[in-house]
Amino acid sequence: MTNRMQDKIVIVTGASSGLGRATAELMIAEGARVVIADINQAAGEAVANTIGAEFVRVDVGIPGEVDALVAGTVARFGRLDVMCNNAGVIATTPVVETTDEDYDRMVTVNFGGVFYGTRAAGRVMVEQGFGVIVNTASNGGCSPSAGMAVYSGTKAAVVALSKACAIELAPKGVRVNTISPGTMLTGMVPDVEGIVEMLDKIQPIGYAAKPSQMAAGVLFLASDEGNYVTGHDLVVDGGATAGRSAVGV
Ligand SMILES: NC(=O)c1ccc[n+]([C@@H]2O[C@H](COP(=O)([O-])OP(=O)(O)OC[C@H]3O[C@@H](n4cnc5c(N)ncnc54)[C@H](O)[C@@H]3O)[C@@H](O)[C@H]2O)c1
Repeated sequence: MTNRMQDKIVIVTGASSGLGRATAELMIAEGARVVIADINQAAGEAVANTIGAEFVRVDVGIPGEVDALVAGTVARFGRLDVMCNNAGVIATTPVVETTDEDYDRMVTVNFGGVFYGTRAAGRVMVEQGFGVIVNTASNGGCSPSAGMAVYSGTKAAVVALSKACAIELAPKGVRVNTISPGTMLTGMVPDVEGIVEMLDKIQPIGYAAKPSQMAAGVLFLASDEGNYVTGHDLVVDGGATAGRSAVGV
């Protein structure tokens, strides 16, 4: 590792598992001090102990809890360099069968959580005159799938929100980008027999991503290597949304 995040103060939401955990681990390996924030206290504390992070239990869908997370981090470390708004949830159902509860949960966590986190971090970063925000969207935002209407909608909204924020905050020294992962084998993938083989097969690159491959994209956006990148949606999906396969292939 090359100390690309040396002494940076980083918050990662949804870091009890999957991409959030991989991001937190990579940030620490690159020299950062990381606060992981998640609704799952037991898993979050276990991960924090294992990787050397601090843990705060937060429901990102509750604005006061997100504000307190950011305020507590700044009180503890004196500043906030990077905010990764990554927590997300999914329910896969045909649109006509989507319940009000599932709709509310996805909109509140996937879109609301990113908005609350961007707003809270943005306030601090504007005051500081520097900072980077990386929001997790999905390749389902730019290329939606059947059975994921609301999920895809929230992810497209995350990209639009982040681009608008990037334009607003660029003159204040704050960069805002999104990462749009393709399929990763995480807690979000249902535990169904044969699913791994099926998901591997439908990726042009031949296998579903490991969270660490996605975290590398987050690191690029968050680090100084990406210091001229803002308002960008970095799609990391093994070619899944690049176009159609040739007929018969
Ligand atoms: N896995 C995929 O194929 C895939 C593809 C594209 C995008 N994504 C996105 O990547 C992000 C990370 O997902 P993942 O694949 O690592 O899934 P995951 O289920 O492994 O991790 C999601 C984490 O978010 C936490 N969380 C859920 N609701 C929360 C809340 N209200 N407040 C705080 N934390 C909450 C969970 O406890 C969990 O630790 C999500 O935004 C997801 O939409 C995932």
